[in-house]
Amino acid sequence: MDIFDLLFKYRKAVNIALGVIAVLFVSWIFAYEPVTRNFVAQDAVCNYCHLPWEFNSDERLTATKPHLAHPDDKTSQATCVDCHLPEGWWNTTYAYTHFLSVTDLFGHMRDRDSERAGDWIPPRAATAYRVRDRMFENDSNTCRTCHVEAEIKFTRERGVNAHKLAIKEKKTCIECHNNLVHRPVDVRANAFKKASPSDG
Ligand code: HEC
Ligand code: HEC
Ligand code: HEC
Ligand code: HEC
Repeated sequence: MDIFDLLFKYRKAVNIALGVIAVLFVSWIFAYEPVTRNFVAQDAVCNYCHLPWEFNSDERLTATKPHLAHPDDKTSQATCVDCHLPEGWWNTTYAYTHFLSVTDLFGHMRDRDSERAGDWIPPRAATAYRVRDRMFENDSNTCRTCHVEAEIKFTRERGVNAHKLAIKEKKTCIECHNNLVHRPVDVRANAFKKASPSDG
């Protein structure tokens, strides 16, 4: 009996097995991102390597300010992935490569432009620069999953004017709202410049 006869003989079982595989595959596609965001990449997992007192707002004597997750729930707190892991299949995968320390959350470990320019950058500042550069490049997309620019309510006039300017000059959130929650790191002089064609 060859393989095709076998498959024919057990075709019912084969069909069920194929069906199960298809269902598992489809649910994996749909579950991969939400399961990663909500169950795998939890703050506690980030804290395996990143110090809680530096980055978590609920630690005693923390260096990080709290940031609400929902406007009407004053006890809510934005998670690390809310701000640091943009949506999408590849970004979800970068979470795993990051845990393996193969790449950072977006695949570039070093600030090569500044290194080439000969700057010495303290390692901690370098990570802040990378986060900012990335938010600048992707138009602060993690901020925008919660904040809709046009719907922001202002408590002070200067915010209204700044945001008019932001929209007019197409500035993105991180250009003005850096040092948002963690320990302050100075903004470097040449930050937030669109790459020019002469940059290699
Ligand atoms: C296995 C250890 C490990 C885990 C777990 C981990 N990180 Fe990291 N992370 C690192 C290392 C190492 C760096 C690089 C530090 C440096 O270059 O100074 C880093 C850097 C970063 C940076 C700075 C920017 C960059 O890309 O280098 C961010 C943001 C970050 N991690 C967020 C997270 C978040 C969010 C989580 C949880 C979902 C997490 N990390 C989990 C090890 C880890
Ligand atoms: C998980 C959702 C969420 C994410 C992600 C998020 N925010 Fe917020 N943010 C809020 C909520 C909720 C408030 C409370 C104010 C409100 O009612 O909208 C807030 C408040 C603020 C405020 C005013 C208070 C303060 O702390 O200064 C600023 C500015 C702000 N966010 C900027 C940002 C920027 C920039 C990013 C991206 C780096 C970001 N937010 C990411 C939900 C979020
Ligand atoms: C040109 C600079 C600039 C840009 C770009 C910008 N903001 Fe602001 N934003 C401000 C200033 C200034 C304030 C007022 C801060 C204050 O009053 O303390 C403000 C206020 C806010 C507030 C708080 C409103 C309040 O009064 O409680 C939120 C939330 C906010 N910005 C979110 C964002 C988000 C999200 C983005 C990107 C979509 C963004 N901002 C882009 C400058 C900017
Ligand atoms: C409300 C948004 C927000 C949340 C929540 C948040 N971060 Fe950040 N994080 C930022 C921004 C914005 C920067 C860029 C530096 C700056 O300008 O503050 C940053 C920078 C960093 C850096 C680079 C080094 C540094 O100190 O700047 C690391 C590492 C980091 N975050 C890890 C974490 C971890 C771990 C958590 C969860 C415990 C977390 N962040 C939660 C917005 C956030």
